[in-house]
Amino acid sequence: MEKQIDTLQQQLKQQEKLASLGMLSAGIAHEIQNPLNFVINFSKMSDKLLRDLMEIVEDNKDKLPEEDCEEVEDIVADLKENMAKIVEHGERAISIIQGILMVSRGKENEFIPSDIPHIVKEYVWLSYHAMRANNKSFNISIHEEYQEGMPLIMVIPQDLSRAILNLMNNACYTVWKKSQRLGDDYKPVITVKVSMSNDTLLIDVEDNGEGMTEEVKQHLYDNFFTTKPAGQGTGLGMAIIKDLIENKHGGTLSFDTQEGQGTTFHITIPIKKS
Ligand SMILES: Nc1ncnc2c1ncn2[C@@H]1O[C@H](COP(=O)(O)OP(=O)(O)OP(=O)(O)O)[C@@H](O)[C@H]1O
Ligand SMILES: [Mg+2]
Repeated sequence: MEKQIDTLQQQLKQQEKLASLGMLSAGIAHEIQNPLNFVINFSKMSDKLLRDLMEIVEDNKDKLPEEDCEEVEDIVADLKENMAKIVEHGERAISIIQGILMVSRGKENEFIPSDIPHIVKEYVWLSYHAMRANNKSFNISIHEEYQEGMPLIMVIPQDLSRAILNLMNNACYTVWKKSQRLGDDYKPVITVKVSMSNDTLLIDVEDNGEGMTEEVKQHLYDNFFTTKPAGQGTGLGMAIIKDLIENKHGGTLSFDTQEGQGTTFHITIPIKKS
């Protein structure tokens, strides 16, 4: 128990660090935006001044030697080009900064129109690669079935990604465990499906891993219930995502499982009109 609390505290610390990093970059991005706007606006103003200057030169052409006139024209043309470059790159920097602000603005608990297959795909592969980083030689066939042409759906993206990540981590773990037991004859497969009916979003994560015993089924959603070795699982994953899906999104989280055969988790989320 003490070890579990320790791991949990470490995870919390890590999350706090990430959160404050997000805040920090949002703060910096925000601060840089102002001076950048000055750079862009003064470049545009200077461009106008150059135009005025050219008009004056134009009007007084007869009073200046031809050579000088040409030189002034060349210099002004170069300056105008430089100004355009400053504006162009300044605007590029602004758009990068706005990108950062957008990412870190995604507030906690905020429902936003989201590309669900895109989010699911991203976290499916994040989990897969994290697993592969630890077990280079271990391979899983990942099957993905995403309904085409799905509209954006209102969800809290951070919550959904967390749910997919934990379901995938669990699925990767169970197929890995089974492959330790059965060796090369066993072909691990994880199938992820995203679809929608009229007013419900459906996400399934299916594995052909170890399945669950009666005891695991009973305690699956209990805080700190884990069958993983100490230090490898906190036993909070399922409890947290049950809360995120059911309480925060008003959806359901359920599963079918057969010992030795595998498990399928089903998420449903009612589709809100955006
Ligand atoms: N796909 C699955 N197949 C078989 N057993 C599973 C599966 N998903 C979860 N379990 C069982 O449920 C337990 C609890 O899962 P949960 O995600 O809550 O915690 P955990 O994975 O052990 O730790 P963590 O807090 O790191 O997620 C697991 O230890 C495992 O025994
Ligand atoms: Mg887990």
